[in-house]
Amino acid sequence: IFQVAAASGHTVVLVDQSDEILKKSTKGIEESLKRVAKKKFADKPEAGAEFIKKTLKNLTTSTDAASVVHSTDLVIEAIVENLEVKNKLFKTLDKFAPEHTIFASNTSSLQITKMANATTRQDRFGGLHFFNPVPMMKLVEVIKTPMTSQKTFESLVDFSKAVGKSPVSCKDTPGFIVNRLLVPYMMEAVRLFERGDASKEDIDVAMKLGAGYPMGPFELLDYVGLDTSKYIIDGWHSLEPNNPLFAPSPLLNKLVEEKKLGKKTGEGFYKYK
Ligand code: 3HC
Repeated sequence: IFQVAAASGHTVVLVDQSDEILKKSTKGIEESLKRVAKKKFADKPEAGAEFIKKTLKNLTTSTDAASVVHSTDLVIEAIVENLEVKNKLFKTLDKFAPEHTIFASNTSSLQITKMANATTRQDRFGGLHFFNPVPMMKLVEVIKTPMTSQKTFESLVDFSKAVGKSPVSCKDTPGFIVNRLLVPYMMEAVRLFERGDASKEDIDVAMKLGAGYPMGPFELLDYVGLDTSKYIIDGWHSLEPNNPLFAPSPLLNKLVEEKKLGKKTGEGFYKYK
């Protein structure tokens, strides 16, 4: 999100918990920018180098959100999927951010309304949900709570377009549009595998070749992160314990317990070098 915002000319401050994480993130962004530049400026390497330089100029990092928020127009939160932790952050930022600043959450599954209610700016609060990998995926879901003002909603739509994305809107319902359809589909794939009906490799091949998906459900689960997927399904299960689509999976729980979280830890359903 940080990358696409900077690449489209916005001045952005990335905030995280430690310098080490920020260093790792910045390195990841540099790598991703190189891939974007290679594609976008295939015949003009100099223009590509200039694009990377200009983008990096728009980026700074910090470990102290409260100290950088005083001059920002938009705060996009993309921290751990835990409502208590998110609300604590929003409450703090609410004290330091200017009156006009819009707050947005990139949550995959938590209610935006509950976060807005932790602040004094319910009308300037909405959801901005991006998709992995953000530089490639064209969609942003813009979420309007019953309290989000039309002006805020329009600003979030405009921002999404300004960073080169195509916005769609959805009410503040579990999973919005994409995850409400995608997560039950991925969980059904896990259940199919758990029952021994097909191998994970064959399920992945089947969905790529039979349905034209760019990744199979197990590849996608590993890509998104098994912890993230578990947070989502556990949250929905607690909201609707009798909905079979939201039933937790023993296999997913086991992998998360073993810290096999997917690509980012080197192992999930598959192993990565
Ligand atoms: N940054 C920049 N460029 C990237 C990139 C990144 N992080 N990742 C991939 N690319 C580029 C590559 O450079 C490559 O460019 P090229 O065409 O010039 O060679 C192009 O994308 C294709 O990449 P690859 O050849 O490595 O692999 P694929 O063809 O499989 O594409 C993919 C990769 C775009 C990730 C594709 O597999 C895909 O679309 N997968 C599905 C992703 C998806 O469903 N995302 C949504 C997940 S749900 C979510 O995020 C919601 C959350 O709340 C849980």
